[in-house]
Amino acid sequence: MTSPLVIAIDGPSGSGKSSTSRGVADRLGLDYLDTGAMYRAMTWALLRQGVDLADPEAVATASDGVTLTSGTDPLDPTIHVDGTDVAEPIRTDEVTGSVSLVAAVPHVRELLVDLQRRVIAGSDGIVVEGRDIGSVVAPDARVKIYLVADPAARAARRAAENGGADAAATEAALAARDRIDSTRAASPLVQSEGSVVVDGTHLTLDEVIDTIVGIVDRAT
Ligand code: DC
Repeated sequence: MTSPLVIAIDGPSGSGKSSTSRGVADRLGLDYLDTGAMYRAMTWALLRQGVDLADPEAVATASDGVTLTSGTDPLDPTIHVDGTDVAEPIRTDEVTGSVSLVAAVPHVRELLVDLQRRVIAGSDGIVVEGRDIGSVVAPDARVKIYLVADPAARAARRAAENGGADAAATEAALAARDRIDSTRAASPLVQSEGSVVVDGTHLTLDEVIDTIVGIVDRAT
């Protein structure tokens, strides 16, 4: 019996990972896990408790008391903190501006990687999106995609998602977040061994999904 299909989709902020990953999961009838939402939910919980996010030890200690639950339906992904639906508040500027600090704390990563592996182990087939899926969370994933797009295209997409925010400011914020995510000591964003680079800069969402489904078909 072959093991359940795991598709890892990593890449920088704004590369279109979420829409793409959900689309691929929906097309192939697979579950979907947004690991970025988990780091965001942890950040939301710690902010609400008044934890100093610049203090890694305080973040590590407080993170032990937070219970996260992720729903894996690609058409209706959910995220709860201690039973509270946080799908909306985890997208605020406050959380977006602080999440890299929390994601850089090794103990938080251990907790969340463990949780992510349990979700994967309980699934019959899943698309998992994040930064370290192919490198750390699921290095044996059958298909690993590294999704990129040029910075201006990424910023334009994020600015449009945020109701027409300033694209130049969005590009600078994305660049700052990528810098922290790529240079942190614990599981930085890297293109993992065996991954296929897909550049979505000049493709529509459907074309990116088609490209990845084609890669999956050839690999399975
Ligand atoms: O994909 P996103 O923008 O929702 O991710 C939020 C933050 O979480 C981002 O700054 C990087 C971090 N992250 C991470 O470190 N590892 C992951 N597997 C997913 C996200």
